[in-house]
Amino acid sequence: MKVGEQISTELGYRDVREWIDRVESFGELKRISGANWQTEIGAICEINVHRLPSYALLFDKVPGYPDGFRVLVCTTNTPRRLALTLNLAATTTSELVAGLRHGRVAGWQAESAKFAPEYMADGPVFEVVQEGAQVDLESFPAPIWHDKDGGRYIGTGDAVITVDPDTGWSNAGAYRCMITGKNQLSLWMATTNRHGRLHINKYHQRGEPGPVVVTLGQDPLLSPVLAGMAMHEGVSELNVAGVIRGAPLRVVRGPVTGLPIPADAEIAVEGWVREGVVCEEGPHGEAPGYYAGGQHMVPAIEVAAIYHRRDPILVGAPPAKPPHDFSYSMAVLYSALTHDALEGAGLPGVSQVWFPEEGTGRLLQIVAIKQRYFGHSKQAGLLCSQVQPAAYLGRMTVVVDDDIDPTNLSEVIWAIITRADPKRDYTILEQCWGSPIDPLKQLYPPGTLYAGRVIIDACRPYEHLDTFPPVAASSPELLSEVWAKWGHLFEKDKEA
Ligand SMILES: Cc1cc2nc3c(=O)[nH]c(=O)nc-3n(C[C@H](O)[C@H](O)[C@H](O)COP(=O)(O)O)c2cc1C
Repeated sequence: MKVGEQISTELGYRDVREWIDRVESFGELKRISGANWQTEIGAICEINVHRLPSYALLFDKVPGYPDGFRVLVCTTNTPRRLALTLNLAATTTSELVAGLRHGRVAGWQAESAKFAPEYMADGPVFEVVQEGAQVDLESFPAPIWHDKDGGRYIGTGDAVITVDPDTGWSNAGAYRCMITGKNQLSLWMATTNRHGRLHINKYHQRGEPGPVVVTLGQDPLLSPVLAGMAMHEGVSELNVAGVIRGAPLRVVRGPVTGLPIPADAEIAVEGWVREGVVCEEGPHGEAPGYYAGGQHMVPAIEVAAIYHRRDPILVGAPPAKPPHDFSYSMAVLYSALTHDALEGAGLPGVSQVWFPEEGTGRLLQIVAIKQRYFGHSKQAGLLCSQVQPAAYLGRMTVVVDDDIDPTNLSEVIWAIITRADPKRDYTILEQCWGSPIDPLKQLYPPGTLYAGRVIIDACRPYEHLDTFPPVAASSPELLSEVWAKWGHLFEKDKEA
């Protein structure tokens, strides 16, 4: 499908409700009734993501809340659901990665200026309005996702919408929000260059409060997918959502801030981030699988109004020890983006890139290459560890020959222990881009955010390619011939 092409009826859906119908039609939705928000919803999500098949879960009849006030999680952790969300005709992980490569994501961004959101006079999000003293963030069944969380993270798979006061560029970022009062949310942004932070800082420099909208239930394309993905500065995720869907996103103007609110959002809040007004948030189970961020003071959002559908759906995307809600989508997106970035940097011979979920979809990076010259494999490792999509939250980059399948961790480990000499082929980098959610950040001085990297060149030594011992395994041709004749011995259904 070409960038900007009208969405096909086969793949398309209008909003999260149609998305749910589509997922149910292909058997990947489970409806769960009566689970409590205090402990059960979070634990059921955790059980679900560790099982195959893993379903999208729609919780209803949450004790203490009106029927119809629902929670949707695990939106994009299978190939079929991620493909549906991204409007890609893919059914497998490799088709998805291929569909996102060769400039697809860059193409969305290039087209985005033509897909400005379309302002509507009204929208379903305004069905119910809470203003002033009526505002109560606890009106929704926001779960305690993990039992050691410091509070109710109503915003996990959310979209925090801000605007650059100088240029009008609107941004949507997935930044976690905990309920810290009936009308107050915490806003945690991991790095100083989060786009939402840049926007809010500009307002503060002008002596004004920063206006924000947070959607807490919306089309999963907007969040967790696009809002959780780094777009170039100046590119709006709201526009990119329009590019992917083939039609501008329908928005309404926020009565309080004037910011765009997706008209079909299930729940949205509007308010202000005032300079110096902070609140305590955390700890929260984080994407590397720990509570590394701890408890700390962060900017507070003063919520002036809440808008929601009559029977609203809160969309959650809780991180945790992987696999978690969005480790699969991270793996797919960052593998595709990094493969393109390596080729864009001019690196030849890259056959595959994979960031396995076991390595959080980011910390472990595996690149397969066809070696062409001395130093090629080292170059591939160094570049992969530092190109923009892979530089943040990396730890280990492994370069393997193209006879190794990076998605098969048994093969990767075998290559590491048989083809990499620890002294010669392990390269340590210090003081790389660190992260507040890295459990090893405490090894570095307080006030700094660095992290180390290791690059493992697990390719056969280039100067010994001709003399490296052959692999003790039959050729694929022989195996397929023998399988055709003898495979029945191993196939249960043929035996039956
Ligand atoms: C579900 C999900 C939750 C996330 N939570 C946070 C968060 O709490 N804080 C943060 O800084 N980044 C978080 N991220 C990563 C950012 O959303 C991501 O880096 C995004 O590119 C940020 O948007 P921006 O580039 O427009 O600032 C999350 C990503 C996902 C997919």
